[in-house]
Amino acid sequence: MFKLLWMLMLTPTLSIASLKAPLLEAQNQTSQTVVLILLGPPGAGKGTQANILSDTLQLPHISTGDLLRSNIKEGTELGKTAKGYMDQGKLVPDDLILDMLFARVANEDCQRGYILDGFPRTLPQAEAYDKRLGTSAKTIALNLSLSNEEIINRLSKRVTCKECNTPYHLIHSPPKTEGKCDECGGTLIQRSDDKEEVIQKRLNVYEKQTAPLIEYYSKENALKQVSCSQSIDDVLTEILDYLREIYRSLKEE
Ligand code: AP5
Ligand code: MG
Repeated sequence: MFKLLWMLMLTPTLSIASLKAPLLEAQNQTSQTVVLILLGPPGAGKGTQANILSDTLQLPHISTGDLLRSNIKEGTELGKTAKGYMDQGKLVPDDLILDMLFARVANEDCQRGYILDGFPRTLPQAEAYDKRLGTSAKTIALNLSLSNEEIINRLSKRVTCKECNTPYHLIHSPPKTEGKCDECGGTLIQRSDDKEEVIQKRLNVYEKQTAPLIEYYSKENALKQVSCSQSIDDVLTEILDYLREIYRSLKEE
């Protein structure tokens, strides 16, 4: 009985580990730069999946939200301007985001590809980004979906590392030591935009300004729908499976 329970507990970990090797093999066989875009409403799990994918694929995880929060922490002019928008659940103006993002992706570590989390957020951002990228990289967009009810539940119980931004959920993925980040030992805090009234505003903004991107990437035939009402491991398994096929098809092109 105990052996069976133990095996059941290990099953998701084993199946994810067994998906990684063929994915990495397929990834190593293509020289194409791949940009992975994680779309989805606040709280769907973009940061959670991007962290794991970054580790698995050895590609940098670029979150515009995290970049803005670093600017706020450092007290830069951009940070001061951005805070006013973020605390109200509004989007930061496109020109500020584009300058910040373009500077980041010009870094050497982005040559092989990277994972975008929370960008693009508006049609002008997507169009400006596509124009800059041209045909130099293959873009893959994953649309992470979740019901509003579950989003509110997840965000109201989320704590985030003040230092490295790793998100935890007090019930679904709690830290090993209360209040401390497993990755870097940093202090876990509640984000200032995770109050229920701000979450609702962020959801409205998402519907109005970001959801149209689903159609934009569908038209370009570059969108995979992923339901995030599953466990973190099941969402990851679905994404890894899909990416393996994409990398294999790139090798054949
Ligand atoms: P940003 O930081 O991007 O926030 P967001 O899009 O609102 O998304 P979140 O970080 O809240 O959620 P997530 O999808 O990453 O979920 P997570 O993995 O943490 O942006 C913040 C603000 O910055 C914006 O409002 C805007 O003002 C500004 N901004 C940023 N980018 C911008 C841009 N491009 N243009 C303009 N303005 C911009 O997961 C949530 C919780 O659920 C966690 O507790 C996690 O542990 C848990 N969880 C995750 N997956 C699962 C699962 N499968 N099962 C159970 N629990 C799970
Ligand atoms: Mg996030």
